[in-house]
Formats: sequence, structure tokens, C-alpha cells
Amino acid sequence: MSLPATLEYANGKVILLDQTRLPLEKIFLEINDAQTMWEAIKVLRVRGAPAIGGAAAFGLWLGVREIVDGTTRAEFLEQLQTVRDYLATSRPTAVNLFWALDRVNNAAKNSSLQTAGELKAFVLEEALSIQREDIEMCRAIGEHGANELEQVLPEGSSILTHCNAGALATMGLGTALAPVYVALERGRAIHVFADETRPLLQGARITAWELHQAGVPVTLITDNMAATVMRGPRINSSDGQKVGAVIVGTDRVAANGDFANKIGTYGVALLAKAHGIPFYVATPSSTIDLNTPNGDGIEIELRHSDEVTSFGARVTAPAGVNVFNPAFDVTPGNLVTGFITERGVMRAPYLESLKQF
Ligand code: MRU
Repeated sequence: MSLPATLEYANGKVILLDQTRLPLEKIFLEINDAQTMWEAIKVLRVRGAPAIGGAAAFGLWLGVREIVDGTTRAEFLEQLQTVRDYLATSRPTAVNLFWALDRVNNAAKNSSLQTAGELKAFVLEEALSIQREDIEMCRAIGEHGANELEQVLPEGSSILTHCNAGALATMGLGTALAPVYVALERGRAIHVFADETRPLLQGARITAWELHQAGVPVTLITDNMAATVMRGPRINSSDGQKVGAVIVGTDRVAANGDFANKIGTYGVALLAKAHGIPFYVATPSSTIDLNTPNGDGIEIELRHSDEVTSFGARVTAPAGVNVFNPAFDVTPGNLVTGFITERGVMRAPYLESLKQF
């Protein structure tokens, strides 16, 4: 199984796979400063909640690595805080961004290190820890998710996913796709229906590409085909596969189990409910935000109208038309069968089961 690396650090260099160019080109970018990292997050060169968090942590290091020897601890920490606040303006919804920035910033503040050299090395080490832990969390989500699928997914049925919560959205195996990869390692190839995911086509450009590369059987559908596919194999074009479970990722889980994910997820959850299909959300603890009591408190990113009025370079709507383009929606926790986390599958009541995070 071959999975692409989203973000790599080696020999002082931070390298990102530019996801805006997929699937046509596999271009790796060397990111040398916090401004370029901010832009990469903003325009979705790096995207997916855990990957955004990791990228931001390395961005913080890039923003302080030129600080000269002789700078005092107080001056260093002031600059670190400035870079933290700047990177925090890149995207608002994925809590991993703030989680990672605050974790690195607070760890440096709470350390007793005095010199700029020591503090820089510490910031880098913290970013590398976030990366290592993400790899471990994805693996554990994959193991727990594959165990769950062994219980609930009838042989020969498919899962359906929305957007991309695979390897490219994280620094490891992914979240929603991790159970599929672990099942493949265990000898079971699970067929996946990938929603195309308008407007930016993360499902078509990234999920379908990633699964294809890994040797997982995948069928791409447009978002408006999900209901027909869930209703059952009445039309033969879907290989006769029935959807046995839905698994999606998330950008933020509130304390009561309401969660934000790519726009369209709420509709998929309602469809799953209508067809009696279990609906899972795969999430590392870094995406669980107990400080937000429910979905109403999650800020939803609004993006540029061009993403809706064009398809690639082609304009598909009249100039000046009114556009609504929220990048995410909020799905109520009562539509969720379980949250697949690195500590196992959390079930309702979520106010109780998510408390441990
Ligand atoms: O706008 P994007 O591509 O960053 O949106 C990504 C998603 O909605 C993912 O499903 C989510 O971040 C979970 S990634 C493990």
C-alpha cells in the first residue's frame, strides 16, 4: 500500500505536497517562512484538520528560526506569540490549528529555557512531537475503526465518505480512511464511494486519487448521487455495492457531539439516518473541543464566491450573482452512531463519553 506524505521535515527543510495541484501534478513545495505557510493553509495547499495543525506548528518554528543569538527569552516569546496570532488567522473552523499553535506556544512559555537557540530547538521538537503523535493517533483510529467495521459492515458492502479525511488530511494514515487502510492490511479490501465534494472537489481530486494509489477499490459519485447510492443497488452502475456504513472526518467536535465537517456532511448524515445506515465520525483527540458546548459555537469559514461560480478555469454562473459559500456545516450529534477515536469508539450520550478528552 503506498500513501503519499502530506508534510515532511528533514534536515531543516519543511516540505508540503501542494494539494491544489492534485490529481494532475504531484508538486512538492519547500516552505521557508511563516507567511508562505499561512498562504499554503489559506488556499488549501495543505488542508484537512490534523494536517493544518501540523503545518501551523512547523509554521511557528519557521517564524522564529531566524531569531538571532543574544535575543532575550522575553523578546523570543513575544515574537513567538506574534507568529502564533498571525497563523491563527489563516482558517477559522479546524480546531487543530489553534490546538497546535497554543500547544507549542504554551510549552515554550512554560519551559525554563533561556537562550534563543534552546527555545528554537524546543519549538521544532514540539512540532515534530505533534507530527509523531498524529501518525500514532491515525493508526489507532484505523485499528479501532477496522474492528468496528468487522462488526457492522456486511461482507461485500461499501462505505461512503465525503471530502477527504485520508492520509492527505493528516500526517499519518488519515482518520475516516484509516479503517479502510487497516482493513486492507488485514486482507479485506473495502469498496469506497467517494462523494465528489463541491465546490473544491476534495473527494474527486484527493480521496479518489489517494485510494486509487493505495489499491483500494473506489467509485466516485457526485454529491447529489449519494441518496440513490444509499437506497441500494437498483442501478447497476455502482457495481451492485450497497452502502453499509458512512465514515467522515471532522474539523471540530463540540462537547455534546455536534461536529463541523466539509459542507454537505449534514445532508449525508440525514440520508444515512433515512436509510438506516450507521454514520461514524473519525476523529483524533486534537479535534475534540470541549470548550465549545455545542455546534452553535463553531465558527464556519465563508470562502470566496469564485469557488462556486466557476469550475476550474471555466465560469459557470452569471457575473455578479449572489453566492453563499460556507466551507463547512454542522451536523447534530444525535445523527452520529459513534466517534472513532484513538481511544476507541465513543457512543452517546456524548456529553459523558467525550468528557475524557
Ligand atoms: O476545506 P478542507 O479540505 O480543509 O476540509 C477538510 C475536511 O472537511 C475534512 O473532512 C476534515 O478536516 C477532517 S480531516 C481528517
